[in-house]
Amino acid sequence: MDYFLYKQGELYAEDVPIRDIARAVGTPFYVYSSATFRRHYQLFQEALEGMDHLICYAMKANGNLAILKLMADLGAGIDVVSGGEYAKARAAGVPGERIVFSGVGKTEAEMRQALAGGIRQFNVESEPELLVLSRVADSMGALAPISIRVNPDVDAKTHAKIATGKSENKFGIPISKASEAYAMAARLPGIKVVGIDVHIGSQLTDLGPYEMAFSKVAELTHRLRAEGHEISRLDLGGGLGIPYENSNTAPPLPLEYGEVVRKTVGDLGCEIEIEPGRLIAGNAGLMVGSVIYLKQGEGRDFLIIDAAMNDLIRPAMYEAHHDIVPVKQPEPGVDLSAVDVVGPVCESGDTFARGRNLPPLQATDLIAFRSAGAYGAVMASEYNARPLIPEVLVQGDQFAVIRARPSFEDMIKRDTIPEWL
Ligand code: LLP
Repeated sequence: MDYFLYKQGELYAEDVPIRDIARAVGTPFYVYSSATFRRHYQLFQEALEGMDHLICYAMKANGNLAILKLMADLGAGIDVVSGGEYAKARAAGVPGERIVFSGVGKTEAEMRQALAGGIRQFNVESEPELLVLSRVADSMGALAPISIRVNPDVDAKTHAKIATGKSENKFGIPISKASEAYAMAARLPGIKVVGIDVHIGSQLTDLGPYEMAFSKVAELTHRLRAEGHEISRLDLGGGLGIPYENSNTAPPLPLEYGEVVRKTVGDLGCEIEIEPGRLIAGNAGLMVGSVIYLKQGEGRDFLIIDAAMNDLIRPAMYEAHHDIVPVKQPEPGVDLSAVDVVGPVCESGDTFARGRNLPPLQATDLIAFRSAGAYGAVMASEYNARPLIPEVLVQGDQFAVIRARPSFEDMIKRDTIPEWL
């Protein structure tokens, strides 16, 4: 559920008409509903109720400082994957003890940064990383708390580009080699083992792979404890899918996911961490654009809009579906016709939807892409020298720009021409 609804024939974000925001900031833009973020966080809280747990929001989904502050104020932890994300989380007021650091390629500089600034744990993904972390921590006189990310060799049954839990993926240490890795960690200076980490992929729409992966983690917990390791935390990653298509059968609810967690790892006496990104942010955001032209092609019509693949890359990159709705509510029973919704970028890949049934639209009409709060703004670029589009946050009847649109001048100033040229 989200808070983007039609009222009096107009699409609203909570109590703000989308049209008012468009008037104030121009199109295209992203708009987020703070009530939706809070509600999604709350759903996970309810799902894990009764278990000692921490929800570490995966900020890669949407890392705007205002969103991080909103999540931090709810008590969330943050899952970061780079020095930049770590710095942003801290800048938003997230204490180091609530930050977990994931990722296959942490650099020494990032390790140093997190150890100096405070860290809940590193999720270590390889033996070489473990050796470097040990050396860095030891040289700082620090003790790095770690979980080892194990790769359970489970098929997440999601898009190939976002599945991470099979042995052919680059992520984690094969679960079959976990004992050796933990034994190595236990011998190394500067390292303190605190738990196990697993993350099998994103946009999961089936609980089966979770059940399989978490059961393997439970087994591993018993084995590692028998081998003398103190396993007090289990980080189960993120990945729970969201409904992108109105017509689709809905993915499992957080409550059902929580049941799987309870059933598989609930009785191990471990603190449970999860790292949801998409489920918290995805349906809390829209991307809004305007129609530039309606172009009649041969056998197909093109709706050319002012947003493009550089603003929202998911359709081009993952063949992802985003529901598209007009901001002015269509009259009931109006005739729909199939159009290709495309942007102005000079690539055929700049196509948001093919043959999408939409009510009649004309130049300057506003349209909204639903489910664009996660992996939208964060994956945007300035390709074709199109400035990053602004982000707006709504709360009740108020809204604020939380990232402004750069001017052409701002964009130009970022490049420098060498003196010798
Ligand atoms: N934890 C780790 C270690 C991850 O790699 C990810 C996502 C998450 C948590 C959060 O997963 P979520 O709950 O958001 O599914 N750009 C792609 C998604 C990439 C996901 C990468 N890792 C997309 O637009 O679909």
